Amino acid sequence: MSNYHIKHLEEYFQVYRKSVRNPENFWEEVAEEHFLWRKRWDNVLSWDFKKPEVKWFEGAELNITENCIDRHLRTRGDKTAILFEPNNPDEPAQHISYQQLYERVNQMANVLKSQGIEKGDRVCIYLPMIPELAIALLACARIGAIHSVVFAGFSSKALATRINDASCKMLITSDGSYRGSKTLDLKAIVDGALESCESIETVLVAERTKNKIHMKEGRDLWLQPLLDDAEVKCSAEPMKAEDPLFILYTSGSTGRPKGMVHTTAGYMVYTAYTFKNIFQYRETDVYWCTADIGWITGHSYIVYGPLANGATTVMFEGVPSYPDFSRFWEIVEKHQITHLYTAPTAIRALAKENIEYVERHDLSSLKVLGSVGEPINEEAWHWYNDNIGKKQSPIVDTWWQTETGGIMISPIPFVTPTKPTYATLPFIGIQPALMDEEGKEIKGNQVDGRLCIKFPWPSMARTIWGDHDRYRDTYFSAYENKYFTGDGAMRDEVGYYRITGRVDDVIIVSGHNLGTAPIEDAINEHPAVAESAIVGFPHDVKGNALYGYVMLKEFGETRNQDNLRKEINQQITDKVGPIAKLDKIQFVNGLPKTRSGKIMRRILRKIASKDTSNLGDTSTLLNPEVVQEIMDNAL
Ligand code: PRX
Repeated sequence: MSNYHIKHLEEYFQVYRKSVRNPENFWEEVAEEHFLWRKRWDNVLSWDFKKPEVKWFEGAELNITENCIDRHLRTRGDKTAILFEPNNPDEPAQHISYQQLYERVNQMANVLKSQGIEKGDRVCIYLPMIPELAIALLACARIGAIHSVVFAGFSSKALATRINDASCKMLITSDGSYRGSKTLDLKAIVDGALESCESIETVLVAERTKNKIHMKEGRDLWLQPLLDDAEVKCSAEPMKAEDPLFILYTSGSTGRPKGMVHTTAGYMVYTAYTFKNIFQYRETDVYWCTADIGWITGHSYIVYGPLANGATTVMFEGVPSYPDFSRFWEIVEKHQITHLYTAPTAIRALAKENIEYVERHDLSSLKVLGSVGEPINEEAWHWYNDNIGKKQSPIVDTWWQTETGGIMISPIPFVTPTKPTYATLPFIGIQPALMDEEGKEIKGNQVDGRLCIKFPWPSMARTIWGDHDRYRDTYFSAYENKYFTGDGAMRDEVGYYRITGRVDDVIIVSGHNLGTAPIEDAINEHPAVAESAIVGFPHDVKGNALYGYVMLKEFGETRNQDNLRKEINQQITDKVGPIAKLDKIQFVNGLPKTRSGKIMRRILRKIASKDTSNLGDTSTLLNPEVVQEIMDNAL
């Protein structure tokens, strides 16, 4: 028991040392004491970063839903597991107890089975933030189906790519979704996607908005009548420790999204253990993570981590600005939220509004504040600390990734002294390293480099679905025997880490990872476009916004350039999704290229950021003359 809940700094250092000196022993103890296993493991860890292959708790059998639901029934049956707060504040919140969650998950699991879903089948979930979303994840896990959640803001094309990549057999969606004052027609997006998805046999449709939708005969079924007829008991499938639990897509530096595969036992142990410690969660707390379950934050810290600890986890369907900018604070007061875990982009957007929106509400229930998704700037950190936490609630700035499954670097509240903009110290069991460009580890403090992890941790992704070579090339080939994160970081004089941002072609916009390649592909498909390059530039709410340099087939194209800009953004909305729209589009005569034909993004990034004092040597370019021209016409 002693290792499960860290309560002071000395204990952190002590447990940390133990966890890196003998990781197998450490994680074995955690796994043994705090989870329900059908069969014990034979071997705690085997690993080889060259292949790469990582296996935790091999030989064990378990079902994660028994850990997240069944084992709580005796002591927490009536406790609220999921607290659903709808988009419309006049619609009552729903308190779903552990007992009710058990029944609803089992009913959904029985529906999946009755529709032919078996262990190992892939089920795509494209739902808004309604209880059915969390229930669908857990129902898949109950019967050993692999869920692949696609964020319900992605376009038909993006959805289809993901369905086809994993050959999903079933899709679970809804008749529509609410977002503030808007109602979106999700089913129409699904219908568009499914024109090019042959693997989908059945579509289950949850009713939410009562939009008029088309139901395709022989394929589409309303979910509720099936649930009404389903048994409330469904035995949990015993899963092997390394059986895949889910696939979740993330952007990469090529056009194809990467389906990160997370497996069962290690993911469960690590998300549960991090949740307990990084939020210092106590039995009567009400925890709210504002992310969407369509992202890893929602998987690990709305669903699996909190439920494995028997917590009350809030699911919010709406947006921070509806009906007005006090919505978050109204919810905190209404549900007496103790933990608020949100993103810097939301903090920056709310900080811009009148402080009265905050002051109208009693936020005294709050104990811990969290931040995730991108570096939090100094100003946002202080606003959050002063106005929301009233300098009493520590901010946990949690650094991690879809690939890491759980939080990797973060303060532990009331344990680690915080420092604005610093994710601070590695979590228990995590061994970071900063590397230089020659591939050597940079030791000591007050240094910066590329962030790698030297040793496996239980919740790391095991592969990319269907493409193990890409997994190896992306994460394990840049530095020998290390996992490369794609981020840059610095380590200060006391060993605190500060994440400085991506060092690859991924741009984080409002906390969403966007690869440049799929956006450029979408633009290039426009008939008037010859070539394009996307870079990020600083934006005071989104963190980064997108700047596109677009070369037309005929420069001086007679069409109105503003119309072309609209068409290009529409093209991006259709192919990728509205989150990838460009803030600025500059039409150019040429793109700066190296002699080997690679676009020099470094130069374009500087021009977009209005930082042209030091462009470096441009004389080695194939076409140095375009640089001046691009600078002269920059937006
Ligand atoms: O660049 C880092 C940034 O988000 C990337 C991972 O994005 P994603 O896989 O979508 O997961 C986001 C939620 C875990 C990282 O490579 N990032 C995430 N958290 C932080 C961060 N950058 C700085 N500080 C953070 N706290």
